[in-house]
Amino acid sequence: MQEEFLQILRTLKQNVYIMTSGVKGDRCAVTVSSVTSLSLEPPMIIVCINKNASMHENLEKNKKFCLNLLNSTQKDLANLCSGEDEGEKRFSRGEWSQTEPVYLTNAQSNIFCSIDEIYPFNSHSLVIGKIYDLKHSGEKDPLIYQDGEYE
Ligand SMILES: Cc1cc2nc3c(=O)[nH]c(=O)nc-3n(C[C@H](O)[C@H](O)[C@H](O)COP(=O)(O)O)c2cc1C
Repeated sequence: MQEEFLQILRTLKQNVYIMTSGVKGDRCAVTVSSVTSLSLEPPMIIVCINKNASMHENLEKNKKFCLNLLNSTQKDLANLCSGEDEGEKRFSRGEWSQTEPVYLTNAQSNIFCSIDEIYPFNSHSLVIGKIYDLKHSGEKDPLIYQDGEYE
């Protein structure tokens, strides 16, 4: 059952975000795709975070995060923020703000959220964010992930 479920998931074309929180010195960046809009009034969003991911611990300390929607040229950042390099090393490439929460200044879009709720569910937590600010470049060229590859 799990393998078949995975096979179906691999056929999906997914948008790719780097979720960021914290500020220089104690900041965190993780590649995510499990992002879904929840409501427009008020503007809310859901993201599912593995309890073992560094972001999970960071979110418990921080009240805000940013979902940085990547564009098609930012595959290297997606790899960096889902790979073995951890913590501050993930900020060694890319254009990052000095704000809290830290965000990728040249992403296609930035969705700034305050944490409304975190619901633990088995291996993951459902993080419910209330959107308080947005930046949109106007581009329509998102990075896509399908079957383990970026396009
Ligand atoms: C395209 C892509 C999408 C991902 N989506 C998620 C996700 O939605 N939630 C999650 O917890 N991990 C997701 N991951 C896995 C994390 O990026 C990866 O496990 C990361 O290493 C966790 O951060 P850490 O190493 O700092 O703990 C995704 C990875 C990739 C490559």
